[in-house]
Amino acid sequence: MTRIVPSLLAACISLAALATRSTAANYPDPLQLTGDFVYVHDPSLIQRASDGKYFLFTSHNKAGIITADNLAGPWTEVGSILPDDSVIDLPGRDDIWAPDVSFHNGQYYAYYAVSVSGSQNSAIGLATSPTMEPGTWTDKGQVFRTQTGDPYNAIDPNLIIDENGVPLLTFGSYWGDIYQFNLANDFQTMASSPVQVAHNSTPPSPVEGSFVWKHDDFYYLFTSSGQCCSFDPNNLPPPGNEYKVFVGRSSSAHGPFLDQNGVDMVDNGGTLVIASHGDVFAPGGEGVFTDSKSGKDIFVYHYLHSQGSIAYLEANASLGLNAIDWSSGWPVLTSI
Ligand SMILES: *[C@@H]1O[C@H](CO)[C@@H](O)[C@H](O)[C@H]1NC(C)=O
Repeated sequence: MTRIVPSLLAACISLAALATRSTAANYPDPLQLTGDFVYVHDPSLIQRASDGKYFLFTSHNKAGIITADNLAGPWTEVGSILPDDSVIDLPGRDDIWAPDVSFHNGQYYAYYAVSVSGSQNSAIGLATSPTMEPGTWTDKGQVFRTQTGDPYNAIDPNLIIDENGVPLLTFGSYWGDIYQFNLANDFQTMASSPVQVAHNSTPPSPVEGSFVWKHDDFYYLFTSSGQCCSFDPNNLPPPGNEYKVFVGRSSSAHGPFLDQNGVDMVDNGGTLVIASHGDVFAPGGEGVFTDSKSGKDIFVYHYLHSQGSIAYLEANASLGLNAIDWSSGWPVLTSI
């Protein structure tokens, strides 16, 4: 995620450019959850292979770890991936963003971002663990780094294994939006140059939080677009300029990812998956996992509230969970 000063956003994001990509939809409510956690941002949710326990990871709290035995909870905050901060020597090393956790070769891999609001002085790092429990994570350090002037920003990493078995990292960006590069067999060394796979040409190109998921014959690229954070309840952006989630699909994990109208996501394409509705405001930071208990694919996201005393406050962002109906070949959210 990236926070940009609201005045810049207001001046730069054209509502029209984003609205052409949306269609009206009735969204199901997120699953009702119980637990002692009050904050989730940029969630990553997976089940432990050994026992099916649910592990949820979030931005901030040193990459917080929240666990549950059932999807509806109770959820419990148990610790952090990096309680002693990242070894990457950059501002933000004590405030990790957007952990992305997946299981390969008997280990859990957590890619994470080190950055601060509005900066391209950023890095993607890697930590690994055999169990995901607090205290078991080894910080492997930097995978990739960017600086001011680069066409992209090293934030919001997501790992997928491509159709040839090669680990592929999707990341970005706000600046230049979403890019991908191959990793070597160590899952850490860059093995190709970044290639752009999604772009919104409306400055400041507010696309980030990408996630690639394979279903049947397609790889689906999900992105979050719009203002994620720092909302002033008394001065909200024009409706539709806040976070929402788009998708495109491709027969390759490397794209090109086309939306339902055949428009490439590098050319402003994207089919809307979820946008603000009811009490759900600015949903994004999304991911997908297959729930081994129900067999369903679950769409995982955060959202702010639009009602009550916590309306529009990032400090009260919640975990959103819905099931995915793939029967049309496109992800349609349903109740769990
Ligand atoms: C909102 O967030 C604040 C700050 O973390 C917390 O103290 C408060 O309990 C939260 N309120 C709700 C209703 O979750």
